[in-house]
Amino acid sequence: MTRQRVLSGVQPTGNPHLGNYLGAIRNWVENQSQYENFFCVVDLHAITVPHDPKILATDTYGIAAIYLACGIDLTHSNIFVQSHVPAHSELTWLLNCITPLNWLQDMVQFKEKAIKQGENVSTGLLDYPVLMAADILLYQADKVPVGEDQKQHLELTRDIAARFNHLYGNKGKQRILKQPDPLIRSEGARVMSLTDGTKKMSKSDPSDQSRINLLDTPEQIQQKIKKCKTDPHRGLVFDDAERPEANNLLTLYMLLSGQSKEAVAIECQDMGWGQFKPLLTETTIAALQPIQEKYHAVMADKGYLESILRQGREQAAAIANDTLLKVKSALGYSIPL
Ligand code: TRP
Repeated sequence: MTRQRVLSGVQPTGNPHLGNYLGAIRNWVENQSQYENFFCVVDLHAITVPHDPKILATDTYGIAAIYLACGIDLTHSNIFVQSHVPAHSELTWLLNCITPLNWLQDMVQFKEKAIKQGENVSTGLLDYPVLMAADILLYQADKVPVGEDQKQHLELTRDIAARFNHLYGNKGKQRILKQPDPLIRSEGARVMSLTDGTKKMSKSDPSDQSRINLLDTPEQIQQKIKKCKTDPHRGLVFDDAERPEANNLLTLYMLLSGQSKEAVAIECQDMGWGQFKPLLTETTIAALQPIQEKYHAVMADKGYLESILRQGREQAAAIANDTLLKVKSALGYSIPL
């Protein structure tokens, strides 16, 4: 029996943080043996907003190293860089020409990011979801693990595939592009900001206090948890709408300690913040230590990392180029020998 195929990606912008790990990469790691996996570092997406060329390559390697450090296992998974496989750019162009402009203008993330960019909104920012659709459709992925915020982009991907198959695949009788299903992570893994329990932990938050980066030192972690927002109540509980910070910090403790929700709820029900914060600090430092060690070892051996990415590129390109050929042929292009 062939395994279903999974594809997902993270952008090499900013520091990867606990939200990226607990909300995304950790789930990929947990489920990887069930699937054939492709994990991409989406460096073409990284230039849809202004970026610094001096750090793009290092940040790209950094995310690949984070994948390995978090436990992505090459016997089940491929790790590759989006820009190393030119088919991503090429399919994006072809799909651009069948994607109605208003589909892109309706994307919530575009509207939010466009407000932040002011005058500087690039065509690339508008086109971001078509590039993401190309990433997914090139691999005929069955499942795409993403956060809730990417659900709309996944629906767009399904719409683009259906439209392509309808227009160029004999009214959809030929399934040239496969429609993927989202794998939306469970509620518990939505990690919120340390300075506002109602906002997602995010790379783009201007305050570094709002997040714990995967590569923060023990001192930084201690200082951030010490200062993080809490509430005046005694006794800690999950799922109280009035206490978003309590829910978030308990959830972090639950995920990082590997305990069940019930066990954590009982352990912490009578605690005050002064007792809980050192416990969370210690647990966070201990959970990140092996990841940081592996990350630094991988980054110190560039030859090893490059060999993994080369192998990933080859395996990715074989599949991607096959899909690209089918798409071009359906569109009526002459295919050179
Ligand atoms: N847009 C995704 C995010 O910001 C990243 C991404 C790009 C992606 N291409 C993808 C995720 C393909 C899944 C599949 O989270």
